[in-house]
Amino acid sequence: MKLTVVGGGSTYTPELVDGFARLRDTLPVEELVLVDPAAERLELVGGLARRIFARQGHAGRIVTTQDLDAGVDGADAVLLQLRVGGQAAREQDETWPLECGCVGQETTGAGGLAKALRTVPVVLGIAERVRRANPRAWIIDFTNPVGIVTRALLQAGHRAVGLCNVAIGLQRKFAKLLGTAPGDLHLDHVGLNHLTWETAVRLGGPEGADVLPKLLAEHGDAVAGDLRLPRDLLDHLGVVPSYYLRYYYAHDEVVRELGGKPSRAAEVAAMERELLAMYGDPALDEKPALLAKRGGAFYSEAAVDLAAALLGGAGSPYQVVNTLNRGTLAFLPDDAVIEVQAAVGPAGPVPLPVPRLDPLFAGLVANVTAYEELALQAALHGGRDRVFRALLAHPLVGQYAYADTLTDLLIAHNREHLAWA
Ligand code: G6P
Ligand code: MN
Repeated sequence: MKLTVVGGGSTYTPELVDGFARLRDTLPVEELVLVDPAAERLELVGGLARRIFARQGHAGRIVTTQDLDAGVDGADAVLLQLRVGGQAAREQDETWPLECGCVGQETTGAGGLAKALRTVPVVLGIAERVRRANPRAWIIDFTNPVGIVTRALLQAGHRAVGLCNVAIGLQRKFAKLLGTAPGDLHLDHVGLNHLTWETAVRLGGPEGADVLPKLLAEHGDAVAGDLRLPRDLLDHLGVVPSYYLRYYYAHDEVVRELGGKPSRAAEVAAMERELLAMYGDPALDEKPALLAKRGGAFYSEAAVDLAAALLGGAGSPYQVVNTLNRGTLAFLPDDAVIEVQAAVGPAGPVPLPVPRLDPLFAGLVANVTAYEELALQAALHGGRDRVFRALLAHPLVGQYAYADTLTDLLIAHNREHLAWA
């Protein structure tokens, strides 16, 4: 089996490689190709990747290349984990929206729109080349904003599935609190990427008993503390929101916080410099502990599980993925991309049925889905008007004066990445 990682020079890659090494029975990778335009990073990351495989006795071959077409040739699955413009562009996304008192975040709100506009054309270009090399290859997209990028890929007819680590992260957290094995917990996870709620926590599988009421009764304070939301709010909701919901439920509080501290992008950039220096050390042959400070914890396990299920190997039968709605949430269009539990096999993911969603959550999901549709139109076709429409539709922007100013700021800060600007 051959797997290719586009953005393989990412400092995250050792996490992925560690997962491939540990979980080789689930996913027997014979060749792992790391593709990246940044030669220096590729060399550092590739070197560590080879040492991780060697230490763990993994016989697979690791190839590094700057040549995308050669890298994807013959691949069974291609993982996309790239960041157009790097942390420098992310820093902008996190900063200029604050000028209007709106949240500055890499995937949520106006900053997330900027990221979508930079990213969608690049990802579609890569996907086209993957299809040319092997029309049967699966594309697993981690590239943010995952909901919009996956929608772009599926709309263009690619064999793509979007993936995020929020659900697997919560599954691990809940398992620890409840004293069970993570694999024993099945989360009823519903919404859009970075806009989800866990509406049940089931023992054993999709039909299992719901222990969410017990989790909230016994560990509500811990769960709320982790999300940095009041316990009271959790009790009101009766479900567990993902931490991205804090940008909505505590928007103004977050904006005040963000105004008074360095951006996450700056923190991550500093961590990346430190990580790359470590990766250059020939004595290092495992993923460093510092990597756990990044938000992507457990993403390698989610990726291995998904690739294994898609490629017909082992892998959990049900997984949380980003895929077409196809009637799952009756209030959304069929071609919206939702993030839910799905039965995953070689024919792709099929969402499990979702009971009628409480209007408390459905309203926001419908609103953000509409925004995502407009965001994708702006990313595909460009133009100031389309950017303005997407921002006006976003529940965290909404007012015309803000949408107007933020449109100008978005374009001014991203001109080099936008072909039409
Ligand atoms: C979580 C999200 C990812 C996001 C990451 C950011 O893992 O699910 O989509 O990229 O956090 O983490 P960072 O360490 O870059 O802030
Ligand atoms: Mn994510």
